[in-house]
Amino acid sequence: MHPLWSSSELSAALSADAEGGSGEAITGVSIDTRSLQPGDLFVALKDQRDGHDFVSAAFKAGAAAALVSEAYVRQPGDGALFRVADTLSGLEALGVAARKRLAGEARIVGVTGSAGKTGTKEMLRACLSLLGATHASEKSYNNHWGVPLTLARMPRETKFGVFEIGMNHAGEIRPLTKMVRPDAAIITTVEPVHLEHFPSVEAIADAKGEIFEGLAPGSAAIIKFDNPHAGRLKAIASSLGAKPMTFGFDARADVQGAHFTASDSGSDMTVSINGGGSFPVHLAIPGRHIAENALAVAAALYAIGADVRKGLEALTNLAPPSGRGARSTLHIGDGKALLIDESYNANPASMRAALATLAAVPRAKYSRRIAVLGDMLELGSEAPALHTGLKGAVDEADVDLVFACGPHMKGLYDALPAAKKGGYALSSATIGTALAENLRAGDVVMVKASNGTRLGSVVAALKTQFGNDEPAA
Ligand SMILES: Nc1ncnc2c1ncn2[C@@H]1O[C@H](COP(=O)(O)OP(=O)(O)O)[C@@H](O)[C@H]1O
Ligand SMILES: [Mg+2]
Repeated sequence: MHPLWSSSELSAALSADAEGGSGEAITGVSIDTRSLQPGDLFVALKDQRDGHDFVSAAFKAGAAAALVSEAYVRQPGDGALFRVADTLSGLEALGVAARKRLAGEARIVGVTGSAGKTGTKEMLRACLSLLGATHASEKSYNNHWGVPLTLARMPRETKFGVFEIGMNHAGEIRPLTKMVRPDAAIITTVEPVHLEHFPSVEAIADAKGEIFEGLAPGSAAIIKFDNPHAGRLKAIASSLGAKPMTFGFDARADVQGAHFTASDSGSDMTVSINGGGSFPVHLAIPGRHIAENALAVAAALYAIGADVRKGLEALTNLAPPSGRGARSTLHIGDGKALLIDESYNANPASMRAALATLAAVPRAKYSRRIAVLGDMLELGSEAPALHTGLKGAVDEADVDLVFACGPHMKGLYDALPAAKKGGYALSSATIGTALAENLRAGDVVMVKASNGTRLGSVVAALKTQFGNDEPAA
């Protein structure tokens, strides 16, 4: 196996000669000295802080080289330096070179959407890992530095690559998808999130549609069938010469899910691909919305010519990422309660999905449904209406008790009947106490909010207080 980057490959990609150092091979790429591994290339980016202040620390931690701007003054102890006019552009150049050197038969999938990017990316990673050497984005590394960083980290032996691509504004996905050059691109869904920066949901759809601009002609543009903006996205794909491919629980979708059944331990469905057969799939991650994302995964596997049936077997064992539906058992007295941790992320679509998933937990097993709901952030002027608008979903899920947290959730809380009011607090610290006092054996508790609301601390406190040594069934 070759190293990730040789010194001469770096020079060629960056149009910069190594200054100093011993021409060591590079085994990784890092932008943060706290997670840097010996042998990494340290890239000094200017973000919240200037990475150039950490170059010395990077070399102390074992960096093999650093990518710095021309103005950087070499410090004692520094090793090989590659100087460029702009380090972010340098990282992008490295990413482009990494994509270019992949073998012709390697296949890349890009994922964007208003919700479900990371979850879908992780499902693809798991499925493709069963089929060949797979490289995928870390965490939610989906922005102007996350995407080129993920590219720059891609080993040349990669057979399958999976890239999460995100955005907060129009025009942000375009340059990223052109670097990634996906062989199939998924838009998980289009929803009213990040409305602060967009005049309309249609404008959001258009911005997501930019991902198709990186596709080669004839490549698959994977679109959710059951979305008000599906037609718009299909038109964008077609105008770019890409091939629209739809997924969903609808017989008219190109990749169809049917016979969906939910249990508290996951879900089952049949997946049928037009021209590609039909087979049962079990998912360890509960939720119809997750199953829908899995249909997008199936579409992508099919589109890139991978073994769909074999790949999807990975979903049988794939657990949800932390804060995105992970389940654990709480011990209360002699009994048990079920905790569903959705504290990482929330928007109106994922709130509804999480409430529906809560409702799928059988009453026979957990008799009382509790929802702990915190503010959904970044919704702009629509925020009050979108929060109170959740009342229907709370009713539909037949939630018994709601604890609400944050200024926006006050609206929803006030709209609830007294019997459903568990408690309200502005901050997560106070709501945790109220919840812990109310909790009893036989409850199922679902905690969901935007990460900034800090309901993750409530989850952590519950786990500490009630123990969770045993994974939930
Ligand atoms: N298709 C979907 N529709 C609605 N909500 C979804 C969907 N897929 C995932 N979610 C929910 O959205 C939240 C964020 O999921 P995540 O995969 O981290 O998305 P992203 O990376 O787009 O922020 C989770 O609560 C998840 O369960
Ligand atoms: Mg993400």
